[in-house]
Amino acid sequence: METSATRLVSEPVSGITGRLRVPGDKSISHRALMLGAIAESPVRVTGFLEGADCIATRRALEQMGAQIEDLADGELLIHGSGPGGLRAPSAPLDLGNSGTGIRLLTGLLAGLSVDAVLTGDASLCGRPMERVARPLRLMGADLDTTEGCPPIRLRSGAGLHGIDYELPVPSAQVKSAILLAALSAQGETRISQPAISRDHTERMLAAMGAPIAFDEVEVSLEGPCRLNGGAVQVPGDFSSAAFFLVAGLLAASGELLIEGVGINPTRVGLLRMLEAMGGDIALLNPRQLGGEPTADIRVRRSHLRAIDVAPEWVPLAIDEFPVFFVAAALAEGITRVRGAEELRVKESDRIEAMAQALTAVGVTVEPRPDGMLVHGGKIRGGRVDSHGDHRVAMAMAVAGTVSAEGIVIENTENVGTSFPGFAAAARSVGMSVVEEKP
Ligand code: S3P
Repeated sequence: METSATRLVSEPVSGITGRLRVPGDKSISHRALMLGAIAESPVRVTGFLEGADCIATRRALEQMGAQIEDLADGELLIHGSGPGGLRAPSAPLDLGNSGTGIRLLTGLLAGLSVDAVLTGDASLCGRPMERVARPLRLMGADLDTTEGCPPIRLRSGAGLHGIDYELPVPSAQVKSAILLAALSAQGETRISQPAISRDHTERMLAAMGAPIAFDEVEVSLEGPCRLNGGAVQVPGDFSSAAFFLVAGLLAASGELLIEGVGINPTRVGLLRMLEAMGGDIALLNPRQLGGEPTADIRVRRSHLRAIDVAPEWVPLAIDEFPVFFVAAALAEGITRVRGAEELRVKESDRIEAMAQALTAVGVTVEPRPDGMLVHGGKIRGGRVDSHGDHRVAMAMAVAGTVSAEGIVIENTENVGTSFPGFAAAARSVGMSVVEEKP
């Protein structure tokens, strides 16, 4: 195990109860920053996620001249100055741990024909970028990757043109990178996808007046076009709520209410999966928040039974598998996940990281190239490594809450990329999660 700058210690508790809010949606916060920076008039953002990933994207845009003002209560005012407002940065752009940041920004900057180098931390510099570079080259962009990974070098060149592109993997990041480039390209760009992926970019572009049409399989946009400013309200991140959803189902007693959570249908595969396992989950007070469906989620202790996860649900729950595997570890029977090979190229190899962590705390798992079998039973406890992956760290903190002996999770500093204040939020509903800096 690597030496750890920060660890989480999660002790078992008898019950968890109460209400809480989770921080703003990471995907929507990234998109608000990027679209706001090229809008024709100011964009006011409420509920923005002040996590390390979104802060890295904000700093990158500011390095290129974007004016972003902090208002009271965490609101941001982005003074968009049109697509011509961003200029080439004088130093490499460091997107930290963020795949969304680097992939979407590459698309945006390719369209603007800005010279730039985009890079990130060790995890990001091991993640595949040709999936974005390839379609952008087809549009006429001049860029290369470093053996398929960051750093990415973008050179200004001829203007882009629209393309007809079939995504080889259902990836919202690739789809969004192409759409951001298409905003500045001549002619129509049409993208088809093998399965549904999150559609926040499409919704926000439509709200800002872009000529875009989309459904579950296809999206098209006529470029070049300009974006109107206005207001973006960011709902709570379903992917952050997911940890409390699972904790509430598994805890020995209590009831949790998670307020103001985004329930966009392209994001809530985990709800379907947990309901199929017998989870008692209710969506209360459904409403629209800035073009995104939102609700309060009530969750009660439930007896879960194993399921076979349908491969078509995988993209709808792609970030929730670490905590889903924890739910499966306490379900009755053997849960099977297939068609989830994308988990191997996230912030860590999430199949490997979760297989190691669950094995270390006494759970029987059978990792597969494209998924995992999890044998339901008990979680004993022990010491695990998050491999610097925020979602693995928080999933194992949930596991500690419902374990027999507690779990120490090493290398948890990246929890702040998506969920600053996670340990305090967990304690506010009765979990025993403490952050230590050894
Ligand atoms: C994201 C898309 C997903 C997801 C990531 C955020 C986005 O990645 O895993 O955390 O904001 O578009 P892929 O597009 O690689 O599936």
